[in-house]
Amino acid sequence: MTDPTTPAAIGRERQSAIYRQGVLGRRPAVPTDFAELERRARRATSQKGWAYVAGGAGEGRTMRNNRAAFDRWVIVPRMAHGITTRDLSVDLLGTRLDTPILFAPVGAGQLIDPDCDLHVARAAAKAGVPYVFTNQGGTPMEECAAAMGEGRRWVQLYWSTDEALVDSLIRRAEAIDAGALVVTLDTTTLGWRPQDLNLGSLPFAQGLGIGQYTSDPRFRELVRERIAAAKTSGVKQEVEVTLGAIRSLLSITRNHPGKFWANLRSPEPRGSVEAFLDIYSNPGLSWDHLATLRERTRLPVVLKGILHPDDARRAFDQGVDAIVVSNHGGRQVDSSIASLDALQDIRAAVGDEPTVLMDSGIRTGADVFTAVALGADAVLLGRPYMYGLAVAGQRGVEEVVANIVAELDLTMSLTGARSLADITADMLQPSRDFASSGH
Ligand SMILES: Cc1cc2nc3c(=O)[nH]c(=O)nc-3n(C[C@H](O)[C@H](O)[C@H](O)COP(=O)(O)O)c2cc1C
Repeated sequence: MTDPTTPAAIGRERQSAIYRQGVLGRRPAVPTDFAELERRARRATSQKGWAYVAGGAGEGRTMRNNRAAFDRWVIVPRMAHGITTRDLSVDLLGTRLDTPILFAPVGAGQLIDPDCDLHVARAAAKAGVPYVFTNQGGTPMEECAAAMGEGRRWVQLYWSTDEALVDSLIRRAEAIDAGALVVTLDTTTLGWRPQDLNLGSLPFAQGLGIGQYTSDPRFRELVRERIAAAKTSGVKQEVEVTLGAIRSLLSITRNHPGKFWANLRSPEPRGSVEAFLDIYSNPGLSWDHLATLRERTRLPVVLKGILHPDDARRAFDQGVDAIVVSNHGGRQVDSSIASLDALQDIRAAVGDEPTVLMDSGIRTGADVFTAVALGADAVLLGRPYMYGLAVAGQRGVEEVVANIVAELDLTMSLTGARSLADITADMLQPSRDFASSGH
């Protein structure tokens, strides 16, 4: 029997496997619908963890827009097409993927599980889904790559104000055989995130999500330079001693590479957090910086966070290999255009040829179908797999993606799509309910 937890198992196999277990009195460990998955994940997560992972910018309008955009479309199934086999595979940047799904980069996952990145890496390798390593992971990319074996990984980069650090991270991505370098453009500074702000919670300030930095030779050099400069300047930083400050210090110390007691005596752990907060992103990022990428790396370059057709055109004019249409899951700008709406405008502007990926709001297999119909070559899953992780660890991640692939396959079966190329805008219509309800 095919392993029901891998996406290789198409829809009916997965469905029957679940029903067969049901006959034995067993229910799936991971809920198969998003609403229940979200509820269960929330129960399993700390308050600060939930604020960070589930939270969004401002009043949450962009997150709602992302979902409402899917509600504005309906699928129109076709009957008696006689199609019994389907092909969900897609060619992406020179490699063939079994399904049009990747795992999005999700930073500071240590808030959910200390080994989040490793669990996701293993789940991705097992499921045959490429994993885009976040620049803000807890585990160095080399360790995640080792955990994946031959599994495909891409590496995401935030453009630092330190150009030597940018180069160092790129070199490391090349050394671990990344399939692409994904440069995220939409987080040159953090958005206004009330859920975190109300708790005064920034994971990085606790030493979480900075593992790619503390393992980087250039970053460590920078930290040592800054510590030496502070020593010679003789300026001492006064820190108010509160219970919170002690907790933060312990968290920073615990999460820094090396031995706890040695770390406690060293200025490096705290220096690393401070250096990270100063340099991890570059509010001055411009197309001139991006124009240097082609000569800085041999990896395919993907720009993530594009929402305007002019930016999409400019990206392809500069020779990038792909873009990700994304509003960062509604975490950056409140009241921003829905990613699915932006996808349609961008596909219309750039034509059929360029590789356009999409994320922000994908929750189900039917959503993947809709996104592909509206022009996405593939999609990235974000929060859903993190919720799977919260509920059931590595297995939870595998099950979430297997469920989404199963539903995509069943949707194709029930609509008469033999391959992704068959999923076109002709299979959709604007939802009349939505139009008449005055939205
Ligand atoms: C907790 C969290 C952390 C994220 N961290 C990163 C990151 O480090 N780098 C990045 O490019 N995108 C990051 N993203 C954005 C995701 O890559 C992706 O665009 C987003 O999750 C898609 O929205 P969705 O999860 O609502 O579908 C993060 C998203 C979440 C939820």
